Parts: sequence; C-alpha cells; structure tokens
Amino acid sequence: MKNVKELDYSIHHLCIYDDKPRDNMMPYLRWHHGITNYFSGAVFHVTGDGHSDYTFMGCGGHAFGIQIEAPPFQFEYERIWWADHGRGYNHVCWLTSNARASMDHLLANGATEVMPFEEFPTYDGFVVHDPEGRWIEIMEYTDDTFRVQEFTHAPSGQCGLEMVGNAEVCQDVEAMTDWYTNVMDLKVAKEFSDGKNKVVVMVDKNYDPISRRNLFIIQNARHDFEKEHMVQHGPYISSIIYQAKDVTRAYEDALWAGMKELQAPVIDSLTGLLTAYMREPCGDNVLMLTEHFAPTI
Ligand SMILES: [Fe+2]
Repeated sequence: MKNVKELDYSIHHLCIYDDKPRDNMMPYLRWHHGITNYFSGAVFHVTGDGHSDYTFMGCGGHAFGIQIEAPPFQFEYERIWWADHGRGYNHVCWLTSNARASMDHLLANGATEVMPFEEFPTYDGFVVHDPEGRWIEIMEYTDDTFRVQEFTHAPSGQCGLEMVGNAEVCQDVEAMTDWYTNVMDLKVAKEFSDGKNKVVVMVDKNYDPISRRNLFIIQNARHDFEKEHMVQHGPYISSIIYQAKDVTRAYEDALWAGMKELQAPVIDSLTGLLTAYMREPCGDNVLMLTEHFAPTI
C-alpha cells in the first residue's frame, strides 16, 4: 500500500447541491465570481443513472473553486443524500496522483465507501465518508488536456475578494485534526483555542501564503447557526471561506449581490480577525468572510 506522501493530495473544490443551479449561481456572479467551467447534459459523464449538471465557479484566482451540482444527479447514492439533506454543501474534492491507491489507503484508515472506484473518460475517482460522515471526493485526472480551469488573476474587485477554502464543523476537532493530518496529508498552520471553542487552520502541501492560499478549517460548532445545523444534519461542511482587502466593502458588495446578512463584520473573539457571515439566498449556505490571513508554516 502506498503511504500518504506518495498520494500527492491537494484540495480542489467544494460542491454545493442545489436544484436551482441558475438561481444559485447569480449572487456569486454578481459578487466578483466567474464561471470557470460548465459541464452538462449529453456530452459529459452520462451514466446509466443520469447525467451531470456542473457549474464550476472561482473568485480571486486561486486553485480552490466551487461546484454547483444539480438533480437528477448521476448516481442513486447522490439522490439518497439529496432526499436526506436537500440543498447544502455535499463534498470537498481532492486531487491525487493515484486514485486507486488512494481508495485502498483511505478505506484502510477509517474512511467508508460512498461511491466505488470508477474510471470516467476524464478522470478516475471515488467518494468516501470521512470518519465523521462528511463526503470526500477523490479525483485523478487521466486525460491529457481536461482540467477544471483556473483563473490567473487575483484578487477580484475593488474590495480584493478571494475565495480561499472551506470550513467544517466537527464532533471531535482533535480527532479530525489528527485524521486529516495523518490520512490526507494536511498540516496545521494555526490553532485558535479558548478552552471552549477550537478553530484549526490546516493547509495542503501546495500551500503558499501569496500564490496559493488555500485553507481548510476544522472547528467545533461555535455559533448558534452552526449548532442548529449540526443538530439537524450531524457534522458537516459548514462554509466557504473568503478573504478581502476591504472586508466592509466586500460585505456591502455581497449584500448588493443578493447574499443575506447573518453577521455583519465584527472582530472574532477567538481568531482576532474581522469576520462577517452571510447566507447564499437559494440554498441558505453559509459564507465566511475575513480580513487577509496568510499563516506561515
Ligand atoms: Fe465534485
């Protein structure tokens, strides 16, 4: 079996399930985002079960992006999740250099199967649960040219907006920090703790504080909206993380774009960062916006 270093993991995208993808994408487009790829219908990933409707979007030029995925979905296991949870953040996708070896490694280390290994025309991949039940998609590109496109200009807009990653609300923050360190090859870049709450900022091996500032935050349910979601859905992928040169302007732009206010910019008592929260209006998914934060490792 390959060891984790040989699997060459990097974080790629967060996926949103939504049955109104054209409605869902509009506030993002008005809020300094762009579409990096649109894959749909009869020419891409048609399976016996259904077909794809994927809208990939980015903001700020970094490799991390979001994917809106819409019913009818390609597979039955996706429809089961949709029936249980409805609109929401469904998975985080990681790139690897060897998807088959990655599956063996993950299943031997506490992950459980959601979608068996499959060879698609453009990539090999599969889906597992992490030990707390959140979905992880693994993808190994196998086509010479096919990639989800990336922007090359950062940041975006006068407010200097950049999408930099995602946060996850965990049942056991320490156990999940260890698991993502040992099994997915992340490193802890910074920890914030006050004895009651804990926020662990992790990064993958390609992290660079300037050119590739992708963050993966593991935390407990700190805010009421996180506690309420956790009661209903269990441990979950909780937010897309944004940073801005001018948080107040980025927040005003977000409200203009149609995002809904959840918490106006205020200094977070744990991290010390100027932080705002919004909800995207179609699926009520949470967005976290902070000032520039680029830990060195
Ligand atoms: Fe995906």
